[in-house]
Amino acid sequence: MSIALKVQGLSVSVVGKQILKGLDLEVPYGEIHAMMGPNGSGKSTLCHVLTGKSGYEVSGQAFLNGTDLFSLDVDERARLGLLQSFQYPTQVPGVRLEEFLMEATDEAGVDPDEATARIEAVAERFNMVDFLKRSLNTDLSGGEKKRSEIFQMAVLRPRMALLDEIDSGLDIDAVRQVAEEVDEMRSPDLGVLMITHYSRILRYVTPDRIHIMIDGKIVDSGGAELADELESGGYDAVRDRLGLPKAMAAEKTLKPADFFTETPFDV
Ligand SMILES: Nc1ncnc2c1ncn2[C@@H]1O[C@H](COP(=O)(O)OP(=O)(O)OP(=O)(O)O)[C@@H](O)[C@H]1O
Ligand SMILES: [Mg+2]
Repeated sequence: MSIALKVQGLSVSVVGKQILKGLDLEVPYGEIHAMMGPNGSGKSTLCHVLTGKSGYEVSGQAFLNGTDLFSLDVDERARLGLLQSFQYPTQVPGVRLEEFLMEATDEAGVDPDEATARIEAVAERFNMVDFLKRSLNTDLSGGEKKRSEIFQMAVLRPRMALLDEIDSGLDIDAVRQVAEEVDEMRSPDLGVLMITHYSRILRYVTPDRIHIMIDGKIVDSGGAELADELESGGYDAVRDRLGLPKAMAAEKTLKPADFFTETPFDV
């Protein structure tokens, strides 16, 4: 089985603070892996460092289809098929989604006629035709931005997709829709790393493996049972089982139950 993404001993610091602490990860082609972890554990940093965002001190290795990622610049990584969908997609007023996709496919060496046909077909399939003439991510609702990210991915056909919280801020139907779209893209030529806080999305897209990241490291990997454990006991249950130190208060992820009391209003 060939490996889309291989990360070995990855450590990352920014302004003197160590965020990733010797992280190992493998995502084979044809597989969808989920990554879950408390706020601030380093999930987005992993994506940023892999796609080549500057400003980090990096040690360790990462390979995309066997090629050393850290010897390549941002554009070369993208041309090799590494794509990140952002937790907070950037707005680009004045650049229409259609224009952005034509340029991105051109950079990837796709013939313009083939690109136009592909964009139209995928827009129909994803019900995104109206969005093509609008500025990239501008004035879209949170959920529409996430759907636009998945749409771009379906057009660009990456070899390795890093999906950072594609389900955040989505309503229940949209979570299902986005998850099913990701699942539909499953292919022997694609590896997917899907970062999520909610096991809800895993009902509609079944990951081949789930990784748990705590404090800059993958502390456990396994199947659906890990998501079930998190759902019922949170990260403290995982920490207890693995003998890891308890979370600092600021690091704890708030659960919906933390916001509600038995009697929410004084009447
Ligand atoms: N440029 C930076 N300067 C200082 N600290 C940073 C920088 N980038 C990230 N960090 C810190 O690194 C830690 C990890 O951040 P990261 O965004 O990777 O977490 P995350 O796991 O994606 O969290 P979340 O689930 O909240 O999205 C956080 O404590 C964050 O404040
Ligand atoms: Mg994040």
